[in-house]
Amino acid sequence: MSHTDPRTLIAQHAETTRLLGVDFLPLGSPSVAGVSRGIAPSQPGKGGPTDKIPDPAASPPRPRQEIEPKPPEPAHATDVRACHESLSDPQAKLDAVRERYIADAPHRHFVTQFNNIVFGEGDPDARLMFIGEAPGETEDQTGRPFVGRAGQLLDKMIVAMGLGRESVYICNVLKTRPPNNATPTSEEAALCAPYLIEQIRIVRPEAIVTLGLPATRLLLETSEPMRAMRGRWWAFPPGRDSSTPSLSAMSDPDLPEVPVMPTYHPAYLLRSYTEENRRKVWSDLCLVRDRLGLAAKV
Ligand code: URA
Repeated sequence: MSHTDPRTLIAQHAETTRLLGVDFLPLGSPSVAGVSRGIAPSQPGKGGPTDKIPDPAASPPRPRQEIEPKPPEPAHATDVRACHESLSDPQAKLDAVRERYIADAPHRHFVTQFNNIVFGEGDPDARLMFIGEAPGETEDQTGRPFVGRAGQLLDKMIVAMGLGRESVYICNVLKTRPPNNATPTSEEAALCAPYLIEQIRIVRPEAIVTLGLPATRLLLETSEPMRAMRGRWWAFPPGRDSSTPSLSAMSDPDLPEVPVMPTYHPAYLLRSYTEENRRKVWSDLCLVRDRLGLAAKV
């Protein structure tokens, strides 16, 4: 069994926590063992904090792996779009994109560990769409998004907003489970983006809530921390009136414009279940509720 250096664990924890939307690591933060997501073992092909520090007592280091000269390109947006253009029923369109995702298998380019593809579910005509980061263990077992502990909290949030789970659309940036629930890298997110963008095009929601930083950063092409993003409306696709978006799928003029409200991921909220954090998330959701004219639940 491999031994993971504590420095590696701490670096991974810090990176995962940052990507989940925490802007700093407070002194006296919970121990690594208390964190349910994000402690990834060393993953081939992923650099940075997941690289192992060599153990001098272990066998001699193996030769460095060849680095791919060019990272894989995401599927072209128009190709993915073509799979559903002749269809009119939104659910049939979503099914076609799912089939296209399965055929393309963009996850073959990165390290994943999955039993089921978790494509997304809900009302194909939903007014509101929630986008998380990647399936966890329960989602992987069931093939359904947000059905574990974080999902149960999300369900409560949806009900508190005056909606039901069946009336919204829920999906993730990645459609397959990362090993040990590691936070998706931006390269992995970009490879899966064309399929997510087709989901948005088909559902045409009136608002999107991005749960955590990976979804926020992908959709809004930002590298800002969550504290700078949450609590305000942003435009998807980004860059229509400013810089050129870097993902081809975002530059399509037919893509519907959808306001986006970023907020903390429910898994982060579960780990840092403070009144302050709950207030922040609830106030973000109230902005969405008010924009959609939903009745407040008391
Ligand atoms: N966390 C996510 O980001 N998505 C899920 O589906 C479950 C947990």
